[in-house]
Amino acid sequence: MTGRQTVQPLPYLPDWPAVTSAVPRDAGDEETIRTLLARMTLEEKVGQLIQPELTQLRPEDVRDYKIGSALNGAGCWPGGDRHASASAWRDTVETFRAAAEEAYRDRPFRIPFVWATDAVHGHNNVAGATVFPHNIGLGAAGDPGLLRGIGRATAEEVRATGMGWTFAPTVATPRDRRWGRYYEGYSEDPAIVARYAREVVTGLQGDAAHLRSGAGVIATLKHWVADGATEFGADRGTAKCSEDNLRNIHAAGFLSGIEAGAQAVMVSFSSWANPANYDHTPGRATPYNHKVHGSRYLITDVLKDRIGFDGITISDWDAHVEVAGCSESDGGYSFLAGLDVLMVSQRDAWQSLYRTTIGQVRSGVIPMSRIDDAVTRVLRVKLRAGLFDRDPGAAPADPVGVLGSPEHRRLNREAARKSLVLLKNADGVLPLAPHGRMLVTGSGAASLSKLTGGWTVTWQGDDIEAADLPEARTVAAALRERIPDVTVDPLLTEADPSAHHVAVVVLGEDAYAEMRGTIRRWRSAAYADLKLSYARDLEILRRLRAAGSTIVTVMLTGRPLYVTEEINLSDAFVVAWLPGGEGGVAIAEMLFGAEDFQGRLPCLWPARRDSVAVNRIPPHIPGYGVPPEEQTHEPLLPFGYGLSLLDEQPGADGKPLPLDERAGSSPIVPAGAPIEVSGPEHSFVITGHHTWSGVSVPRDQPVDTLIVAATPATSPSGGPALRLRYKGHPALVYARTETREVRDLRAYARNGGTVSMGIRVLERPDAPLLLACHDDYPGQPGLDLLPHLHGVAAGEWTTLEIAGADLARAGMDLEHVDVPFMLYCDGRGEVEICDVRWLIR
Ligand code: BGC
Repeated sequence: MTGRQTVQPLPYLPDWPAVTSAVPRDAGDEETIRTLLARMTLEEKVGQLIQPELTQLRPEDVRDYKIGSALNGAGCWPGGDRHASASAWRDTVETFRAAAEEAYRDRPFRIPFVWATDAVHGHNNVAGATVFPHNIGLGAAGDPGLLRGIGRATAEEVRATGMGWTFAPTVATPRDRRWGRYYEGYSEDPAIVARYAREVVTGLQGDAAHLRSGAGVIATLKHWVADGATEFGADRGTAKCSEDNLRNIHAAGFLSGIEAGAQAVMVSFSSWANPANYDHTPGRATPYNHKVHGSRYLITDVLKDRIGFDGITISDWDAHVEVAGCSESDGGYSFLAGLDVLMVSQRDAWQSLYRTTIGQVRSGVIPMSRIDDAVTRVLRVKLRAGLFDRDPGAAPADPVGVLGSPEHRRLNREAARKSLVLLKNADGVLPLAPHGRMLVTGSGAASLSKLTGGWTVTWQGDDIEAADLPEARTVAAALRERIPDVTVDPLLTEADPSAHHVAVVVLGEDAYAEMRGTIRRWRSAAYADLKLSYARDLEILRRLRAAGSTIVTVMLTGRPLYVTEEINLSDAFVVAWLPGGEGGVAIAEMLFGAEDFQGRLPCLWPARRDSVAVNRIPPHIPGYGVPPEEQTHEPLLPFGYGLSLLDEQPGADGKPLPLDERAGSSPIVPAGAPIEVSGPEHSFVITGHHTWSGVSVPRDQPVDTLIVAATPATSPSGGPALRLRYKGHPALVYARTETREVRDLRAYARNGGTVSMGIRVLERPDAPLLLACHDDYPGQPGLDLLPHLHGVAAGEWTTLEIAGADLARAGMDLEHVDVPFMLYCDGRGEVEICDVRWLIR
């Protein structure tokens, strides 16, 4: 083994340091800001502090509300066209920019507009852009210089579409693998995070002159702070770490990123439960709930005053709503905490927030000095980014040829190659000989999504088609391009293993992003335990081993998962992380020995099914005590592990690695009595790719969202029913309890129990209507109800009894049910449901 995660240890920080930014204060800018502030109306100021989303904003709004910036959310494209060209993107941004110029036509000054996007692994929302490996893979590559190049290439692609601001890099230090955003961080080790944050910020923005020239894009460090420290790896959860660990582990990437000149910081959805995180307006009816979006301590006292960050603090998507006392239309507590810009998705919400904020300033709730601080920061960053210098009438540059350019793709392939970590290479199986008959199998063999992961064209990135990334190749396709005799059989249903010289098994996680990717705390973190399709991959390995095949396994994953048996069954095992659009080709090249493996684990590799929070002890913290939310047992493989093709092979003696024979155990509430899903202890929620966070369904009034309209109705017996109109987008309506209690419903499956419900179809859905007992479709399976409704006339009520055993057979985990009922549809249709219950007759 060659341990080559050679990053200098960090200095221990006993207190918050003052950080000097590479982009210095400019006296001329500050004078300009003072002059502008003196002239701007309150309305003009507030327009700079609210950032709406593309699909909920019209160019006229930008003019009328003098909006200073906008974003496109993941999976939101110009005209709703996922394949919108770079020119279409540029033209859309240009329309909004022109509207902002129009807004100031009659004023003696102008405030330029800026567009923000989540370019988190390349310009990933735009079809055809260069999609780099996700950060966890770059953390493995051990080459900080790469990060600078990737930052620069990404900036060029973002600029080419007329945008000037990216919500990247994520500088979380993820300490719990269950977190669905683990892969957005570079490493569990703060020294790596700090080192890489510095490089990528420099790549994205350049130095002060480069940024001002308009060649760079504004970089955003996210999410401040300790988003990777939440208990159970919960997304948007609660971090309980000490302030010392917050500073020395979780703030590391922010400190180096600010030093490198990052101009924006996005605040974390999570909470920090610590006495230092005080209520800045005590005595309110709803006391402060420790959400960082309301933390004056972390935003103003620490980030702005002690560290000295003088750029923009921006909220996460609608996140102020989660702060006690705030609402969609009221961001007062967050503004007072020190947040400068609120990102607000819905049209009604941003408009009413705009009005409320103006009212709050007029009535003295928010002092003008706070607004002026926020606007000062926005103007300062716009000046530094050269936005004021651009001739407002100048034609934008032509984006053709910039996105996905051969040069960027070369860099991308280099990054992907360097990120691969070789865990095993028994008898020097690798490199492969460039001839012979090859079998390529496994759930990842022919998948692009598994290579590119979340935040790729769509939010969850789980439905990538060839047309999204025309240059990308799956592993199977890339192998086929290299040798003639390749059989591709992902499920191994037809091919005969013994007719091949080598089997390449590509396994790995399905793509996911925030929320969806988080592994619930009662679940095992063993790959094969997570999904039926993953268990099938293990089965394939067992079959190939039994057939005596030579097996090379490639694992595509956003996090280290327990795969000891999979490693033992393989002759060679490569962890490829989420290697991006060039990942398929890079993997093929590396298997054939294009270069030696240089990737090294940026994390400990798990020895047990429940190894979810084992991390390297940070060497720079004196007397570090492992906090209760982290684990202390030995890993399977140490931090920095990674083989070279030239290494002596451990395991060459044929001794397998020790398996964890225990099944996952969990504290579960057993159940057998009827569960009244339609009863008062449950509430319904609408969610889907387009809503991000769920929308509650009130019992007594209608709610209309972009994806589903829910209306109270009446059941045949005169009781309550719920009418659901699905509008043609991926959408689910699910039931949950207030306590999010987890129930073991296996008894229902064993004893003939059913999900019983009254249902009538008003408009037959034009896509499957899936029933499930989780809120994770399409991540987890569903059972189509439409065949059960065959022959029932439109508008006629019927009672369905779906056997619990059928749900189990479809692959649902009945042992851990926190959502006893879900109805998913991505088509159009309308149904009414009533009297939903689990029962054993
Ligand atoms: C994510 C952010 C992202 C934002 C805008 C949020 O849900 O947490 O990381 O920048 O959406 O797309």
